[in-house]
Amino acid sequence: MSGQDVIYKTDSLIAEDIDAYLDTHQHKSMLRFITCGSVDDGKSTLIGRLLYDSKMIFEDQLDALQSDSKKVGTQGQEIDFALLVDGLAAEREQGITIDVAYRFFNTEKRKFIVADCPGHEQYTRNMVTGASTADLAVILIDARKGVLVQTRRHSYLCHLIGIRNLVLAVNKMDLVDYSQQVFDDIVADYTEFARSIGIETFTAMPISGFKGDNITAASDNTPWYKGPTLVEHLETVEVLSSVDAAKPFRLPVQWVNRPNLDFRGFSGLIATGSVKPGDEVRVLPSGKTSTVTRIVTLDGDLDKATAGQSVTVCFADEIDCSRGNVIAVADNPPQAADQFEATLVWLNDEAMHVGRAYWLKLGTQTVSVTVQQPKYAVNVNTMEHVAVKTLDLNAIGVAEIITDKDLVFEPYAENRSLGGFILIDKLTNATVAAGMINFSLRRAQNVHWQPTDLTRKDHASLKNQTPKVLWFTGLSGAGKSTIANAVETRLNLMNRHTFLLDGDNVRHGLNKDLGFTEADRIENIRRVGEVAKLMTDAGLIVLTAFISPFRAERDMVRAMLPEGEFVEIFVDTPLAVAESRDVKGLYKKARAGELKNFTGIDSPYEEPKSPEIRVNTSEMSVEEAAEHIIRQLMPLK
Ligand code: ADX
Repeated sequence: MSGQDVIYKTDSLIAEDIDAYLDTHQHKSMLRFITCGSVDDGKSTLIGRLLYDSKMIFEDQLDALQSDSKKVGTQGQEIDFALLVDGLAAEREQGITIDVAYRFFNTEKRKFIVADCPGHEQYTRNMVTGASTADLAVILIDARKGVLVQTRRHSYLCHLIGIRNLVLAVNKMDLVDYSQQVFDDIVADYTEFARSIGIETFTAMPISGFKGDNITAASDNTPWYKGPTLVEHLETVEVLSSVDAAKPFRLPVQWVNRPNLDFRGFSGLIATGSVKPGDEVRVLPSGKTSTVTRIVTLDGDLDKATAGQSVTVCFADEIDCSRGNVIAVADNPPQAADQFEATLVWLNDEAMHVGRAYWLKLGTQTVSVTVQQPKYAVNVNTMEHVAVKTLDLNAIGVAEIITDKDLVFEPYAENRSLGGFILIDKLTNATVAAGMINFSLRRAQNVHWQPTDLTRKDHASLKNQTPKVLWFTGLSGAGKSTIANAVETRLNLMNRHTFLLDGDNVRHGLNKDLGFTEADRIENIRRVGEVAKLMTDAGLIVLTAFISPFRAERDMVRAMLPEGEFVEIFVDTPLAVAESRDVKGLYKKARAGELKNFTGIDSPYEEPKSPEIRVNTSEMSVEEAAEHIIRQLMPLK
């Protein structure tokens, strides 16, 4: 690959092209950076200028550019660099940048990947994506306008994502007569803001992307500016990979390489630090130690490997180590915990569901996680903390998260690879959030699982039955409680040890603090799931009668129990039938607007897709439904 290249979007494509690009310029170090600003700030013009000045444009592209520039009528301007960069058609039409575009260029000293991100607030998620791998951010300011709300937002996001090299590029200096006063005022203004959000250093420079001042050569128009040009700075600033190489050794294991019985190696990309044969290492979370015997790559064994390299390491001992584990230097390992405070950037159109279980992917580790109600969200324009119940698209907030298994981690501020994660919706597989671990909660470290002598098997065999949860779900008035009651009576006659947990009853006691908002319903089901699980541990057959309107929570309870112990029973009664019964008069109230969030009226019910048992109460009586269920459950030991 050569010349100026634009890559849009798809990760695999980017990965392939980056590889090809790196091969071509292997001897040079690479800087990834992001440009932040809006069209008006001259962002595309600046990038176009960088590419042009580093001779990355072919002649034919230049011709096209000149005629294009004439077409759009840029007054008196020979070349509109922005046209070179604005690759997406929609972007040209709307005059805004709508996605993250990656471009490659290189100079004598370095190669560069620049992520060009849109600046508008509704594109926060795009910016976070572009910033997540960047070493440096160029924050563009229009010299005529000074520090704007969006400047603050961009700076905050870059700082949040952990970019420590910030360039404040005061652009369009030609339009303010290269005034030092204007530049100094903007820098003073920005300094005050930067300090308030914890940005300690930044490099400010007066430039003109359009005229080329201080881009590659020091400009005669700004004799008062003694700092580096933009390109000089980009060529010399320290890149993340060298910062990462100096940190303690961490290798998240991607897979175990075991082609035959004579070889067992652990493969992955070294996140930080370096490793040599003979090094003492520790596998997390087990804590087992061993010594590295070999570092194997496709090009032969290595004497040493560092951050950014993909390797396979072999140990002197046969210790357990599998995908998701982290191999670390023995005397300075990362910690493992299951409760954290994290900062989340919500990326999905659908708001966060407090209490719902999502997948959390951190490097090669995947665990199930629930997010608590946010402590606060951050207004990205004013940096104020705002009380919120959930996080909507593009919102940034701080919340406690609880994982179902120990997670090997380091705070994001110390280690991006071991502190940054994404959340994935379990049903749709969409990436819904990006997150950063701030710290683990100590309460998690001091509570240990207490082993007991009697197992759930002992409890069950004493009762001579297999524990089960018969989970009845359906609309209010569908007949869940009535049918569950009839089933329990039959089971009792069959000498089964049972217990019925009923929605209305549980809501008088254990869950009397919960209402009917989505978050409360999720918590309702989570608690009922936990109680039902404890009861199965005690050997019981548990019947539950809750609307449990959301698929995700029913699936969460299913996942909490051993395979086959969760039996989902869909009491399938059409809304019209349930409403016509209206035993408690609640539908009437809901229709009259006196009862909010009523399932089926103004709150959703997600039908089970493949329940173990389905009963249709408009086709069978309670007794028939109970019979049908008992028959389906046979043989119930
Ligand atoms: S769930 O959605 O959280 O599973 P649950 O089964 O515990 O609900 O409670 C439902 C019962 O609460 C209903 O049968 C009804 O008697 C009562 N109820 C009161 N308000 C509502 C409401 N807004 N939506 C649904 N049920 C309600």
